[in-house]
Amino acid sequence: MERIEIIQGDITHLQVDAIVNAANTSLLGGGGVDGAIHRAAGPELLEECRKLHGCPAGEAKITAGYRLPACHVIHTVGPVYRNGKQGEPELLASCYQNSLRLAVENNLKTIAFPCISTGVYRYPQREAAAIAIHEISLFLKKNPAFEKVIIVCFSRDDYDIYFSLLSC
Ligand code: APR
Repeated sequence: MERIEIIQGDITHLQVDAIVNAANTSLLGGGGVDGAIHRAAGPELLEECRKLHGCPAGEAKITAGYRLPACHVIHTVGPVYRNGKQGEPELLASCYQNSLRLAVENNLKTIAFPCISTGVYRYPQREAAAIAIHEISLFLKKNPAFEKVIIVCFSRDDYDIYFSLLSC
């Protein structure tokens, strides 16, 4: 599946149609990749986010990218991991589904995802990666016109997990 690409790096550097932000329900910024994206995009991003009035977990909203090389930011809110039996897998899957749906609705062709929920929200990396790859593969089969989905791993161990899952 060459339309999925796994890289190790900083998502704020990617020149794609949209990068996905692992946000919180306020959409008013935070730490981790959320903090990095807001820092790189500049204050106009927060101004636009204020007008969105938040976002429930599992859903996604789109803004411009401002000073980022990416044209858009798709903000999605992942589940906080508790024990895997509180609907976390379904919510994480819907983050990918809703982000990709928004990309298609906005006629975008390339998108980059971070490893949603696997930082502050403590989702186990391997389980999260399996959900990400499953949802992205399903989406690409149904959307042959979509050009590329990049999964940006900040850490080497995330990269190794994705690489091993994609190789089998
Ligand atoms: N580029 C790509 N990935 C990054 C970057 C970056 N610049 N910075 C961090 N990451 C990775 C982390 O290493 C992790 O693998 O993003 C993944 C998601 O981790 P978090 O950013 O902590 O996001 P999440 O676990 O979804 O928690 C969301 O954290 O920052 C707050 O406001 C955010 O409340 C929300 C919560």
